[in-house]
Amino acid sequence: MLGLKLPTDPRWVNIVEKNIEEILTDHAYCEQKATSTAISLIVSFPEYTELVTEMTALVKEEISHFKMVHDKIIERGWVLGRDRKDEYVVALHKFFPKGGSRTTQLVHRLLYAALIEARSCERFRLLSEELEDKELAEFYRKLMVSEANHYTMFLGFARQYGNREDVDEKWQNLLDYEADIMKDLGKKETIHG
Ligand SMILES: [Fe+2]
Ligand SMILES: [Fe+2]
Repeated sequence: MLGLKLPTDPRWVNIVEKNIEEILTDHAYCEQKATSTAISLIVSFPEYTELVTEMTALVKEEISHFKMVHDKIIERGWVLGRDRKDEYVVALHKFFPKGGSRTTQLVHRLLYAALIEARSCERFRLLSEELEDKELAEFYRKLMVSEANHYTMFLGFARQYGNREDVDEKWQNLLDYEADIMKDLGKKETIHG
């Protein structure tokens, strides 16, 4: 349903499980970055009224996710650590050439956002199914549903604002590229690592 071409090896959860503090810190920043992405789309593309409306709602939702994760960190007696570099996102953002028309740039940013939501959703699903910590598993099950909706929304906007055929082709190519990146990942206790 998410279109991803390479599933995460479930053994990734065993790595995560050994360092819950680390995954929660990394996850908190994923939610912060999702919030920042939504704000940045508003600033860059203000004339796309429907997008601005949805991004405004998304800012609130993603920052509420940040709060949920931050509260979990506090509950467990930890303190939010410093931001980690997300190598997955850095590698992903190299796929589309820079520049092009405004619409092209918008489509590229929407497709990147859709894919990050899709992969996050897949990772949350694994956590919800495999974590021995049942309280945390339930936490991830709820978040998984939200991220699946975000994936659909971003892909929908890309298809709405771009040329449908062109967007679908780009999406398939991006999925192939992402699967290639993922071959070397799944070994770290981060959401996309
Ligand atoms: Fe989120
Ligand atoms: Fe999201």
